[in-house]
Amino acid sequence: MLAGVGENEIDLVDVAAKNVSHFPLEGAAFAALDSKGHLFAATRRALYVAKPEGLALLFEADEPTIHGLVASGDSIWFADGSALGVIDGDRVAEVGGNLIAKDATLVASPSGDVWVVDGEALQRFARTDQRAKLSTVLSWSDGIQPIFARSCAGCHLPGGVSGTDLSTNDAWISERDEIRDRVVSQRSMPPPGHPLSDADRDAIRAWLDAAQR
Ligand code: HEC
Repeated sequence: MLAGVGENEIDLVDVAAKNVSHFPLEGAAFAALDSKGHLFAATRRALYVAKPEGLALLFEADEPTIHGLVASGDSIWFADGSALGVIDGDRVAEVGGNLIAKDATLVASPSGDVWVVDGEALQRFARTDQRAKLSTVLSWSDGIQPIFARSCAGCHLPGGVSGTDLSTNDAWISERDEIRDRVVSQRSMPPPGHPLSDADRDAIRAWLDAAQR
C-alpha cells in the first residue's frame, strides 16, 4: 500500500491489487500509512484517519499550522506550529510548547522515532510513555562524526584506501549526492562485511536531508 496526496484528495494505492482509492479532502497536504496499513491524512488545519465510510476528523488545530505528518513504524507523528504530536489510534497527544521550529520538516525512522530537520539542525525524538522526549540536537560533529569514526574512518581518512576523504563536514557536504546514492539508496556503502546499523543509516539520511536545504 502507498499513500499519496492529490489535489483536494488523498490517494491510497493498493499495488498488489492494482487498485487506487480516493478520499476527498479539501486542502489535502499530507498522508501517512502506519505499519499496520492504517491511513492518516492532514490539511494545514486538521488531522484525519481513514475509516471504511471516509475520513474521520481526529484533531483540529486553532490555526492552519500543521506542517508535517509521517509514519515511523507504529507511530504517526505530526508537527503543529512549534509543537510535536503523536497519534495513538483515535487519541492524539500534542507535546510541548516550544519544541520545534514552525517550518521544520519531519523525517520518518523505521525505529519509531522521528527526526525533526530545521535548516542545519537535527533533532531526534523518541516516544517515552505518552510523551515524546527530546534526545539530541545533531550537528555533523555530534551526529555524523561518531558514525564516521565507527563505520567509515577505516577507509575514508585522508590518504585512505578508498581514495575519498570523508573526515570533515565540508567533505560530507561536497560528497552528499554520492553519499546519499551509496549509503541510503543503494546501501552498497559501507562494503559487505562492514555493517552499518539502521539507526546510523537513518541518521545519515536525516543529516543529508538537512544538508540539502
Ligand atoms: C572497508 C572499507 C570501506 C568502508 C568501511 C567504507 N567505505 Fe566507502 N568506499 C570504499 C572504497 C574502496 C571506495 C571506492 C570504490 C568504490 O567507489 O566502490 C569507496 C567509495 C565510497 C563513496 C564514493 C566516493 C566517490 O565519490 O566515488 C562514498 C560516497 C562512500 N564510499 C561512502 C562511505 C561511507 C559514508 C562510509 C561509512 C558509513 C563508507 N563509505 C565506508 C571503502 C570503504
